[in-house]
Amino acid sequence: MLGIEHPVVQGGMQWVGLAELASAVSNAGGLGIITALTQPTPGDLLKEIERCREMTDKPFAVNLTILPTIKPVPYDDYAQAIVDSGVKIVETAGRNPEPYLPRFKAAGIKIIHKCTSIRHSLKAQKIGCDMVSVDGFECAGHPGEDDITNLILLPLAARRLKIPFLASGGFGDGRGLAAALALGADGINMGTRFMATKEAPIHQNVKQKMVDASELDTSLIYRTLRNTARVFKNSVAEQVLEIEAQPGQTKFEDIQPLVQGLKGRELFDDGDLDKGIWSAGMVVGLIDDIPSCEELITRIVDEAEEIIQQRLGNMLNA
Ligand SMILES: Cc1cc2nc3c(=O)[nH]c(=O)nc-3n(C[C@H](O)[C@H](O)[C@H](O)COP(=O)(O)O)c2cc1C
Repeated sequence: MLGIEHPVVQGGMQWVGLAELASAVSNAGGLGIITALTQPTPGDLLKEIERCREMTDKPFAVNLTILPTIKPVPYDDYAQAIVDSGVKIVETAGRNPEPYLPRFKAAGIKIIHKCTSIRHSLKAQKIGCDMVSVDGFECAGHPGEDDITNLILLPLAARRLKIPFLASGGFGDGRGLAAALALGADGINMGTRFMATKEAPIHQNVKQKMVDASELDTSLIYRTLRNTARVFKNSVAEQVLEIEAQPGQTKFEDIQPLVQGLKGRELFDDGDLDKGIWSAGMVVGLIDDIPSCEELITRIVDEAEEIIQQRLGNMLNA
């Protein structure tokens, strides 16, 4: 359906999903994704898509994340820019993408909706999405409030969905890919693992920090606001958690100065690891190196093939 060689997708990532990374993933046979809202205007998004086209002739997608924001976002104009660009795959996330579907469908665009629950996956199927990305509790960014891990979510998705689906959250190696396929998914979607690649357009300090980290190094912030986010456990995340632990309802204004999106962007640029917060998933515990996207995808696919053919095949033949 996506016209790609390997069942490996790079999820949309604010400040990270630029043409450099998306094209590297697509050139390696996966599906790279440019993040629409990383571009300041819909016009800049069109330019970024053009830049990506200069770097790859393989399919790539655009992520449109529809979330409540402090500053209003011209979502309609971003959606129109995607249509005008001629890109044929969109990853939507956050709120219900229904208002944009007729326009995407009319342009022959395939829609992958990313969501964190079975009920939202079923809704996405019902409104006409072509595929869903099922984002388990392990994932970086917004895991939702149900706290269901992929070991439960994926088999449920396999039982209940008729459309294909990707396993997202916690994937980073061939074992994960083989497991996702065994659990019924058609491929994997990775965010955190792709941050620690040569082509990810972020400071080396961030990549190295993730290599050094363990599976215990993420924090769940904004729980008290029912807008949970899984981020790297740094001093800023700890401060947010201290504020959230105080008696009474947390007010976003109390934490806003700590978590401004632009500080996260600066952190990615200058490598000052305690400048703000950044999304990261539990899979940091499985990241030991900083390969190119080509090396990473080839390794994941080779490992998965070996597990399926050798380890599992031998068990059957024993
Ligand atoms: C730095 C970073 C930024 C992200 N930004 C977005 C975003 O803007 N929109 C979105 O839909 N998902 C975003 N995600 C989530 C990823 O697309 C993906 O769903 C998630 O990372 C999967 O979990 P994993 O990190 O365990 O692979 C982000 C993830 C990371 C690591």
